[in-house]
Amino acid sequence: MNKLKITAFFLFGCLLINCKHKEGEYHDVIEKIEAESKKYHDILMSSEAYIGDIETIEITEGDHTFLIPERKGQIKSYACIECHSKPLSDMQDDTPTRKAHWDIKVNHADENAMNCVTCHNGNDMNHLKSLTGREIDFNLSYKLCSQCHTSQFQDWKGGAHGKNIGGWAKPRAAMTCVNCHNPHQPQIESRWPVQFNSQKARERE
Ligand code: HEC
Ligand code: HEC
Ligand code: HEC
Ligand code: HEC
Repeated sequence: MNKLKITAFFLFGCLLINCKHKEGEYHDVIEKIEAESKKYHDILMSSEAYIGDIETIEITEGDHTFLIPERKGQIKSYACIECHSKPLSDMQDDTPTRKAHWDIKVNHADENAMNCVTCHNGNDMNHLKSLTGREIDFNLSYKLCSQCHTSQFQDWKGGAHGKNIGGWAKPRAAMTCVNCHNPHQPQIESRWPVQFNSQKARERE
């Protein structure tokens, strides 16, 4: 049967059984959704208000396009080239005492896999570097992490690992890896859940 015939049958059927319905009653769920959502059509839903003052950049990874927070403005010692104007090897000497970055200790994988220059480029400190020596922007440091943590990266792209900023309405904005994990010590400390303190509750009464 073609569509025209079906429609004709339907209209005829309606006449016979008189399917005029009261307000608020619908034939099917689709009709209900369409009718009930009419009043919302003029309201523009957006997550922008929740993103607020956070400066973001847009990224596209596979099928996913979303915003992540900008990082360079948050990194205290950026731009690195203010001091790192020459290759690292020229700045280091044999003295055992460090001249800078005393506070940074790496506790991430083991020292066979990881030292400072696994991630930082000794000849161009303003950029991170991939395992094959390619330049990675500090704003896109998730590209550094995704080389080794492929499954978390896949989950993150889809929204299953990490956290969205704002609501479910567009534009989608999500925290990036370094918002939660310190790249030098990425472990998340375990915490005790907050406990209800019955003693305090009694005292407050
Ligand atoms: C205030 C100056 C200054 C700034 C800014 C600075 N550095 Fe350094 N950095 C140094 C000095 C000096 C050394 C050499 C330290 C030594 O060998 O004693 C160094 C060493 C390093 C090393 C090698 C450490 C090691 O133990 O091998 C790395 C990696 C590094 N810096 C990364 C960075 C990055 C990334 C930035 C920017 C985000 C940055 N630095 C900004 C002064 C600076
Ligand atoms: C796993 C990769 C990785 C390793 C290993 C690593 N870094 Fe970093 N480092 C990063 C990333 C990514 C950032 C930027 C973090 C951000 O966006 O806040 C960073 C930031 C920094 C900064 C700027 C931090 C600030 O707040 O000013 C300095 C300095 C630095 N690293 C030095 C070092 C030194 C020195 C070592 C070795 C002792 C080291 N890093 C090892 C990935 C790494
Ligand atoms: C060169 C490979 C490599 C890179 C690049 C790398 N990691 Fe790792 N990471 C590892 C290895 C290896 C471990 C240890 C895994 C284990 O113990 O099972 C690890 C452990 C971790 C852990 C788990 C720590 C724990 O013990 O709970 C987190 C979280 C993590 N990395 C986050 C990051 C983030 C964020 C970045 C990017 C800034 C990053 N990693 C970059 C190799 C890497
Ligand atoms: C909103 C915060 C947040 C963001 C963003 C985030 N993570 Fe995590 N990540 C966590 C928490 C929380 C855990 C769980 C730690 C635990 O169970 O002890 C975790 C665990 C991990 C682990 C340990 C293994 C596991 O799955 O439990 C790795 C590796 C990791 N994250 C890598 C990444 C990478 C790579 C990115 C970016 C692509 C990222 N994370 C983004 C919060 C975050």
